[in-house]
Amino acid sequence: MDHFAEFLRTPREIGTIIASSKSLVAAMVDWIEWDRVEVAVEYGPGKGAITREILQRLRRRTTFFTIELNASFAASFRTALPDVRLHEESVENITGICAEHGVTKIDCVISGLPWATFSDEQQDRYLDEMLKKMPPGAQFVSFAYLVGLPLTSGRRFKRRLDDVFTSVETSEIVWKNFPPAVVYRCRK
Ligand SMILES: C[S@@+](CC[C@H](N)C(=O)[O-])C[C@H]1O[C@@H](n2cnc3c(N)ncnc32)[C@H](O)[C@@H]1O
Repeated sequence: MDHFAEFLRTPREIGTIIASSKSLVAAMVDWIEWDRVEVAVEYGPGKGAITREILQRLRRRTTFFTIELNASFAASFRTALPDVRLHEESVENITGICAEHGVTKIDCVISGLPWATFSDEQQDRYLDEMLKKMPPGAQFVSFAYLVGLPLTSGRRFKRRLDDVFTSVETSEIVWKNFPPAVVYRCRK
């Protein structure tokens, strides 16, 4: 099934119908201090556009896994990247998923989730569960589409980031993406 068909089925989960561009992915993953990352998790990898670039940068000793809720994307992902561990469930189960890997903390989360399409309750639940596993200094990176920034939910998400992280940097606009986006680079 292609992205457009999936968007028609579950638009709130997916958030857009086109995979992130190389420019947007670079604006996310090049910011991460990979040498300091022992455990990295990707939220909402879809078909793996960001994952491929993460794999180029991962250190050999780093534990890495991904969490994708959508069954159709999960199937495509497994076909394209069979060696990468994917959990087909919601990110809200991050504590149990970490336990499966025998890890107690996450140093870095790379998020492709469409935060501005989530309800307040979803935003809080996903963020709160994630933050429980992140020690001070951990990094979180996520994109936000320009069209979503003025929405109440988009503004709320940014406020929540400002509240819970020690530092939050917003990148320049990445025009070479459809839709154009900014990247939030956060440190706990
Ligand atoms: C905007 S797409 C991003 C896809 C890909 N990372 C990219 O940038 O091209 C959002 C992805 O988040 C997934 N997703 C949405 N809610 C989720 C949840 N609660 N847990 C895990 N994945 C979720 C969707 O199924 C979809 O694959």
